[in-house]
Amino acid sequence: MKTQIAIVGAGPAGMLLAHLLARSGIDAVVLERRDRAYVEGRVRAGVLEQITVDLLRRLDLASRLDREGLVHGGTNLALDGEIFHIDMSALTGGQAVTVYGQQEVMKDLFDAAPARGVKIVWNAEDVVLHGLDGGTPCVTWKDQEGARRLECDFIAGCDGFHGVSRASIPASVLRHYERIYPFGWLGILAEVPPAAHELVYANHERGFALASMRSATRSRYYLQCGLEEKLEDWPDERFWDELCLRLGPAMAAKVARGPSFEKSIAPLRSFVAEPMRWGRLFLAGDAAHIVPPTGAKGLNLAASDVIMLHEGLVEFYKSGQSKGIDGYSARALSRVWKAERFSWWFTSITHRFPEMDGFSRKLQMAELDYIKGSPTAQRGLAENYVGLPVAPMPA
Ligand code: APR
Ligand code: PHB
Repeated sequence: MKTQIAIVGAGPAGMLLAHLLARSGIDAVVLERRDRAYVEGRVRAGVLEQITVDLLRRLDLASRLDREGLVHGGTNLALDGEIFHIDMSALTGGQAVTVYGQQEVMKDLFDAAPARGVKIVWNAEDVVLHGLDGGTPCVTWKDQEGARRLECDFIAGCDGFHGVSRASIPASVLRHYERIYPFGWLGILAEVPPAAHELVYANHERGFALASMRSATRSRYYLQCGLEEKLEDWPDERFWDELCLRLGPAMAAKVARGPSFEKSIAPLRSFVAEPMRWGRLFLAGDAAHIVPPTGAKGLNLAASDVIMLHEGLVEFYKSGQSKGIDGYSARALSRVWKAERFSWWFTSITHRFPEMDGFSRKLQMAELDYIKGSPTAQRGLAENYVGLPVAPMPA
């Protein structure tokens, strides 16, 4: 088999890139280790920046998003139960985010794939990348048809944090930057109306809590928890009680309780691998970087990476120039690091750290109080929350 771009991984990065390339008439094949039900079933964050919404619209994949997505022009912060509102739209010249679950984005990307000529190989086992430092790369794997081989011009490594792509770059070339946080997020989904019209990020003495949603009838809530904690430790009643404590009495009065139908614990990590290109391989999305979920940048960064990679590849195939693909790593990393900074900062001002003494806690409280009283500080938060622009292609 032969193609122009072999894409490893059918998560948001791989599928958005596949749709972009299909639209530009560049041939690609996506190789995914799991099946569609698995990829679509993973519950992730649900806040789309304007650039992600614009990308889905540009791809004609936004009809359900435009119908069902909840446009939020603001967000809320809470300190020990006292809530204050940030009017992001007013602070950013009318920008907003759209609440629409990653699972819905994936469903829309997969549903449209056959009609758009997006080719996906499911259940591709033992994917191996070859010839990355030469002119003729290829990918091999096994599936129900046996041993397979795909020759290509370039490989897009969109296979997430645990994928093979980043691991195929020699250790002498790659640099890693990492922060592991000493806590996780315990998340639930429940078929109950959300407690607030917009999200609430709550810093409480007992730990962080987040009130989010998927629709007018479906809520998504999170609690900061210890890394050693188990799901069995958190029956629904305990979750609701703790959530109400951390959100404070005003919000607690509005929390509708109900049985959870999804419950999971995720650790928090900040991670960046540089460079994002080596020879014929480009990394995009979680394969190159991870952010803690505070601020919901993961999916949006995958989208901005592939916007830039796609522009570089189009330039290469249409005009034979390689400035865009040569500049891809630096261009993508400059946006990635700003999102890393924001996600780290937002995590650090809203969570309880085990080693935190009275001084650190007072600084957190002062920072939140400063944001509450300063439109200038709010503007910085809002600008990052709605999403920073994608830098233009290198001239
Ligand atoms: N071979 C083929 N496919 C693989 C391999 C492999 N060796 N390893 C991983 N994959 C697949 C995974 O099964 C997954 O479907 O690559 C895909 C990677 O998807 P994500 O982990 O979602 O990463 P990405 O597309 O970069 O999306 C980033 O989505 O899931 C969230 O938290 C994530 O918000 C972040 C965003
Ligand atoms: C979510 O709804 O899952 C969500 C929202 C905002 C975040 C993280 C997750 O910052």
